[in-house]
Parts: sequence; structure tokens; C-alpha cells
Amino acid sequence: MFENDVADGDRRNSLHRHWSSRFTFILAVTGSAVGLGNIWKFPYIAGQNGGGAFVLVYLFFVFLVGMPVMMSEILIGRRGRRNPVATMKLLGEEEGGASQWRYLGYLAIVCSMLILSYYSFIAGWALSYVYESVSGTFVDASIAEVTATYQGFASNWVATAIAHTLFMATTVALVARGVKRGLEWAVRLMVPALVGLMILLLVFSINTGYFSAGVEFLLAPNFSELSWSGVLIALGQAFFTLSIGIGAVMAYGAYLPQETSIPGTAAVVVCADTVIALLAGLIVFPIVFANGLDPAEGPGLVFMTLPSAFGQMSGGILYAAVFFLLLSFAAWTSAFSLMEPSVAWVVERFNRSRVEAAVIIGFLIWLMGFGSVLSFSVLSGFKFYKGTIYENIDHLTSNILLPIGGFFIVVFAGWVMCRNSTAEELGGVGPAYSVWRFLARYVAPVAIVVVFLQTSGLL
Ligand code: PHE
Repeated sequence: MFENDVADGDRRNSLHRHWSSRFTFILAVTGSAVGLGNIWKFPYIAGQNGGGAFVLVYLFFVFLVGMPVMMSEILIGRRGRRNPVATMKLLGEEEGGASQWRYLGYLAIVCSMLILSYYSFIAGWALSYVYESVSGTFVDASIAEVTATYQGFASNWVATAIAHTLFMATTVALVARGVKRGLEWAVRLMVPALVGLMILLLVFSINTGYFSAGVEFLLAPNFSELSWSGVLIALGQAFFTLSIGIGAVMAYGAYLPQETSIPGTAAVVVCADTVIALLAGLIVFPIVFANGLDPAEGPGLVFMTLPSAFGQMSGGILYAAVFFLLLSFAAWTSAFSLMEPSVAWVVERFNRSRVEAAVIIGFLIWLMGFGSVLSFSVLSGFKFYKGTIYENIDHLTSNILLPIGGFFIVVFAGWVMCRNSTAEELGGVGPAYSVWRFLARYVAPVAIVVVFLQTSGLL
């Protein structure tokens, strides 16, 4: 997966190899961050939570909470140079005398596997839409027809299970082989191509005549639309979209050469990720309003709106197929990072080969995925707490476990680790360091606690 050379001056060598350059690392973390979260999830949850005010709060969380957490996670990963469990144990002992910090690593492993179980299922939809596009299903299709296609597909558990299996199998194969080559290629090509196609879709959206309605919905804040549970969802989405709080970025950080700037890397990734999410929102909502769809439609939103846009363009078949293929690539590069904490843990802890580890972990995740697959069909009536099994896994991971993981990561880096250690990783004491330390010690933990207390009804 990584180059063999270990950078000079490393205080601790990784058991694995290193990323070949800073650029590769930026690509890998961008690949992890940019995914279904930006294009599929962001528009639908912004729609469900009233738009503008939600987006504003989301942006606050991304930059003032997410960014310091991401920097903390990378610096912890690089200092530990092991899988998240071993890294937290090692640094816990080194910095605070408590090896119990390793439980944070276990949390990361469980949570990343849970996320991938449904992520793979949704990514399977994207893959199937490549097939649907090529077979011409969307050509000149009305929004009603596209919606019917989506509903028929989502409730067909055999078809979605096959797509889920295909996605998981390819993910395992690539992770087992070591993903660096595929990853570099995928991200280098994918991100610009994805943005290119999104600009094409944006032009379409501008021409729907409903662009200003879409922009207003997405960007004009109306705080009466936003509840505290919406604020919690915004916090969860900030963590989800940046891939933070569950050791994915920590696991990648373990392979980062010592000389790479962590603040610089985090800034690039956070900005790229935000631009892509906002672009997705600007594309989706004008189409929603032009067709009288409900912005609060839910997980199918993107799968209902975009195909109809492509269907009306000349050459739309090709564009649609390429778009959904790129979306699948974006999902793969995120899925790799969701597997990395558990795969690295199995490799190091049980002395297994990467191939064995990827197969075992992949099989477990695949099995867990059926909880989500069936939530849209056979088990759609089986509801408890937040709804179906899928809705509960989504809520538990994004809105609870990621912020909790992020809280402990940032508290560990800000309060437990000594100043010298963090300063060494973040390129010395300077203005960037001071801003990080302030955000990591005060703003991020306090924001997370306040949102939790508010939503649990204690404040
Ligand atoms: N950030 C990814 C996305 O937006 C999902 C992800 C979450 C990946 C957590 C890794 C860890 O699609």
C-alpha cells in the first residue's frame, strides 16, 4: 500500500509502509472524505432539516469543530504509528499513564464497520444506477418514472443485496491488494472529473428556472426551521463527511511521513469536501422545486432528481453512467478508509496477512449490511427508536458515536497530550498551533457537549 522508505527523523517507525508523498496522503484523505456523504447524504439531510439554517450550523461545525478534530486525529495517528487500538494504548500510556484510552480504538473499529455496512449498500445503488443509465432507463423519463424506478429498486432486496455484495467484494479485493495505486489513480482522476460533471449538472439546474429558489432554500437561514435534533444531525454530518471521529483518518495518519504539514493537509481536505457538498446541494434543490418534489424526501433524493436531469440532456446516457460510476469510485475511496482501522488491527494484533484480515473483516461487514438491505424491503415495517434498522444504525453512528469519538480524540490531543508532543507534530508553536489548541481544548469539546446535553433534554 505504501512506499517502503521510512522518512528520516521519524521518532517511531510504522509497522507498515509510508505514503509516498504528502500529495498521496492528501489524495487519500480527500478520497476518504469525499463520498456518498457529500453527494447523497448532505442534500437529503439538509432537505429534511429545513435548508439554510442547517447548512450554516453545519459549516460552523465543519470548520470550528471538524477541522481541529481532523488535525488531532492525524497527529495522534502519526505519533502512534499503529492501528487505532494500539496507538491509543501506546500514547495513553506515554502521555497520560492510562492504557484505557485503547477503548477509543475499539470504538473506532466497531463504528467504522457499522458505517461501512450501510455505506456499501447505498454505494450498491450507485453501482446499479450505472447499469440503469447505460440501459437507457432514464432517457426522457419524467420525475414520476424516475421515482418509480428508485422505489422499485430500493424495495427489491435481491437486487440491492447483489449490488451490496458486488461493492463489498471489490472493496475487499482492493484493500487486500493494498490500495495505494488504485487509490491514487482513482482520486487524481475522480475528483476533477466528478467536479466537472457536477458543473454540467449545475448548468442544468440553473436553467430549470428554479435556481434562485434552490439557492434560497440552501443558503438563506431561517432558524425557526431548525430544531436541536437538527443541530445534532448537522454535527453528526460534519463528522461523517470529514471521516473523523472513528479512527479512519488516524489509521491513515499512521503512514504519514514526519515532514508533512498536518494543518496544511487538513485545510485542503476540509475545503475540497465542503465545496463538493455545497455543489451537490445547489444542483439538487432547483431540480426538486422545479418538479414539485419534497425536499424532505429522504435517502432517495439524489437518486430521484439527478437521473431525470441527465435524462433530459443530449448525451445524457453517457453523462449519467459516468456520473454514477464516479460516485461509486468516490464511495470506494471512502470505503477503503472505513476498512483500514479494523484491517490494520487484525494484521497487527493477530499477525494475519492483509489479505486474510480484509477477507474476515469484509465478510463480517457484508453480513451486517443485510440489516440495511432488508430495511428498505422485507423489514421496512420493523421499526423501533429512530425507525428501521438502517435508520438506527445511521443515527447511532453519525449522530452519537462519531461525535463521542471526536470528543475524546480532541480532548486527548488538547488536554492529555503534552504541549511539546502536539507542537512537534503540528510544526512548532506558531499562530496556527495556537488556533488549533484553542479550538481543540475549548471550542470543539464544549460544542459537542452542549449539543448532546441539549438533545438529551438536560439543558
Ligand atoms: N466521509 C465519507 C463520506 O462523506 C464517509 C466516511 C465516514 C468515511 C467516516 C470514513 C469514515 O462519504
